[in-house]
Amino acid sequence: MTTNNLNKFLTIDDLRDAAKKRIPKLAFDYLDGGAGSEANIRRNRTGFEDITLCPEYLRDVTERSQKITLFGHTYDAPIGVSPVGLANLIWPKVDTYLATMAKNRNVPYILSAVGTTSLETIAEIAPEHAWFQLYVPGQDHICFDLIARAKAAGFKVLVLTVDIPEPSKRLRDLRNGFTLPFKMTPSVIWDIAKKPNWAFSTLANGTPRFENMVPYMKDAADGKTLGAAQVLQVSARVDEELVKRIRDAWDGTLVIKGILSPKSTEAVKRVGADGIIVSNHGGRQLDSAPSSIEALPRVVEAAGPDMPVMLDSGVRGGGDIVKAFASGAAFTFSGRSFVFGVGALGEAGGEHVLDIMTDEVDRTLAQIGCGDIRELGPEYLW
Ligand SMILES: Cc1cc2nc3c(=O)[nH]c(=O)nc-3n(C[C@H](O)[C@H](O)[C@H](O)COP(=O)(O)O)c2cc1C
Repeated sequence: MTTNNLNKFLTIDDLRDAAKKRIPKLAFDYLDGGAGSEANIRRNRTGFEDITLCPEYLRDVTERSQKITLFGHTYDAPIGVSPVGLANLIWPKVDTYLATMAKNRNVPYILSAVGTTSLETIAEIAPEHAWFQLYVPGQDHICFDLIARAKAAGFKVLVLTVDIPEPSKRLRDLRNGFTLPFKMTPSVIWDIAKKPNWAFSTLANGTPRFENMVPYMKDAADGKTLGAAQVLQVSARVDEELVKRIRDAWDGTLVIKGILSPKSTEAVKRVGADGIIVSNHGGRQLDSAPSSIEALPRVVEAAGPDMPVMLDSGVRGGGDIVKAFASGAAFTFSGRSFVFGVGALGEAGGEHVLDIMTDEVDRTLAQIGCGDIRELGPEYLW
């Protein structure tokens, strides 16, 4: 895709619209949708939109920096890729395209436990940039074996997601009869037939499956993967004691993802984790959860100065990133933005998303009279 063509896609919404035209409805809705009435998805956006920044002038902002040091690594941009399970179903090779982009552009990429590429493959592609996300599986041996594999593969950061005590009720998926392998009803066949590019590339690359689970689950190996994913993901038993055992088993950096409240933040501190990602899973779990940006300041306050608090859910542009940093975030992530990019543009999509985000961060920093993203604080909020 030439630069000229790329310039048609000015925003993440432009990429979302283009992706929607290329991906079967079943897979697009899986990516785009959320829990219940999807009020939390809307709230994630209005949460950002309702915050205004305080522009400051009469300052020299000719030199501007977006570099951020986190857990001993200096990244070139303040945003990375959130873990997205089943990503290769949305477009083939999403995982490897985004891990490669992360390495080339020096930003973090988080591989999902229920990713469609193995953690060993991703560690080879992006040894310094890939983090591994873990769900606590129903069975202990899977959990601790995944941790051992992540360690052996060379991952330095483990992200433990704790916000799925129970699968949420996602109405779009239920209405579409979303399951794996697809049930080939006439409407699903028609849905796929209308998206021949997706159909041919998915056929050429093989049916996506949960590669990390293949050693454990006959179902996963057979491709009956939704049931297998639930065994891995649904963890109503995750309590402090279990997370402490995970802490003991992992000597690298441990980040807890899915925290929204001060009380949970206190628990994260007690188990000895190294960082937090404030997240409501992109509005996919608790429909009545607060927006991530609304929850952030309270978590930052409870975390104190020594615990980096990152954020995802609803980030769709550089202005959102600046608002998150001004509200105390140490870093930001997005899931859907990057996958929309690949769905719309293929391999070039991830970089284009990063270009949109960093260009907007740069313009916003200039406009508010801040030359270095590390200097953002509440004084830049209106
Ligand atoms: C299709 C999809 C699959 C996801 N799978 C996972 C997952 O496997 N593990 C996880 O921790 N979060 C998962 N998430 C949540 C994301 O990591 C992230 O929290 C969310 O996408 C952020 O919101 P945004 O998409 O609005 O940027 C998923 C999100 C989507 C959209």
